[in-house]
Amino acid sequence: MTSRPFFDAIEQASRDEITALQTARVAAALRRAYERVAHYRASFDAAGVHPDEFRGLADLARFPFTSKQTLRDTYPFGLFAVPRAEVARIHASSGTTGKPTVVGYTLKDIETWAGLVARSIYAAGGRAGMAVHVAYGYGLFTGGLGAHYGAERLGCTVIPMSGGQTEKQVQLIDDFRPEIIMVTPSYMLSILDHFRAAGLDPRASSLKTGIFGAEPWTNAMRAEIERSFAMDAVDIYGLSEVMGPGVAQECVETKDGLHIWEDHFYPEVIDPVTGAVLPDGEKGELVFTALTKEAMPIIRYRTRDLTRLLPGTARTMRRMEKITGRSDDMLIVRGVNVFPSQIEEQILRFGALAGHYQIVLTREGRMDAMTVLVEARPEGFGPAAEEQGQALASRIKELVGVTAKVEVMAPGGIERSLGKARRVVDRRQG
Ligand code: DLL
Repeated sequence: MTSRPFFDAIEQASRDEITALQTARVAAALRRAYERVAHYRASFDAAGVHPDEFRGLADLARFPFTSKQTLRDTYPFGLFAVPRAEVARIHASSGTTGKPTVVGYTLKDIETWAGLVARSIYAAGGRAGMAVHVAYGYGLFTGGLGAHYGAERLGCTVIPMSGGQTEKQVQLIDDFRPEIIMVTPSYMLSILDHFRAAGLDPRASSLKTGIFGAEPWTNAMRAEIERSFAMDAVDIYGLSEVMGPGVAQECVETKDGLHIWEDHFYPEVIDPVTGAVLPDGEKGELVFTALTKEAMPIIRYRTRDLTRLLPGTARTMRRMEKITGRSDDMLIVRGVNVFPSQIEEQILRFGALAGHYQIVLTREGRMDAMTVLVEARPEGFGPAAEEQGQALASRIKELVGVTAKVEVMAPGGIERSLGKARRVVDRRQG
């Protein structure tokens, strides 16, 4: 059992099998949504479409989108398709403004989710019997409990550490010797700092695999983490509205983007302006229809994440390219579109600069001004880091196309997050 290449047989299914399964499941999902959720009935009726008109996957494009606003409008339980008493668990995403968005799961949904996270950990190289240190936050956020149930389901020993107490994280990793860590990539860098501060060699740690997600991170960041810890770093994607972590997972053998678990989620990529469905290979906004969720059906959910769909490699299911950013993270600075990930990539080219950074936008007169705050690495702090900071400003100008001031901070000078990093501070209004 331990030597099988895949966790689930469906990971080797042919395209035809996947399409047939998706067609049947989309039809059922549309019907369930229409029959059980007032919002969907009203929105399908308003668009003049009925689940009976769905014959093939191309027909899905005629059905209306769902957005974060839909969840706000139906707060808290308006999208549930089962009585509240049949909802086994609630999660919610914090949201920086207003009410959180709430999602619900039946017991069967929780089982499906655990199975998909188990499949994801397996694709990352995890196996039954390994120990998994979970440093995603536990609570309403889906990261901690999502990872936890999946690791348990795979047959791993779970260490439910949650986020925070970074010194203790390091101590427990040193004492319990887990093979796998699941955490946001930005928090992994904090753990790295604390390893060094404790006088421990991160390359000598027990960690062999890191399963990182919940925020965008670049291949440059992957290289940084892999080198520092002598580990494989792979990407896990998901969102609460669609399930949580485990919607898509990068395979350790190829590290070439994330295989979408297409037996449970039907992906589309659309033009974010017109809403038109784009052919595979073209970049746009990712949209998901959940195929098997009971408690909260979700039809054509606009993620705002930007990527493109690519053919399968290590598995037959299609991949999504590593996410470069969300449409709402795109900064427009003096007319130039900038994603934080573009800045991250440049920073990590400099040996004296660390991956802790923040982009601050201000207004100077009528012009936007961008300042990149970046930390020096402890060993590079001083003239070397200052010099590289100036070189970074030139590279950003040359390669990203915006003028940015770079301020090199002392190690520890940038606010640490325990989960998703706050990469952008926009002080342009007020
Ligand atoms: O972040 C679920 C998750 C937990 C995924 C742990 C992976 C690991 P939300 O809080 O609802 O759910 O945030 C979802 O986070 O739409 C993306 O913008 C972003 N995101 C999640 N995974 C990735 C990733 C969880 N691998 C939002 N790369 C999504 C880039 C990601 N962005």
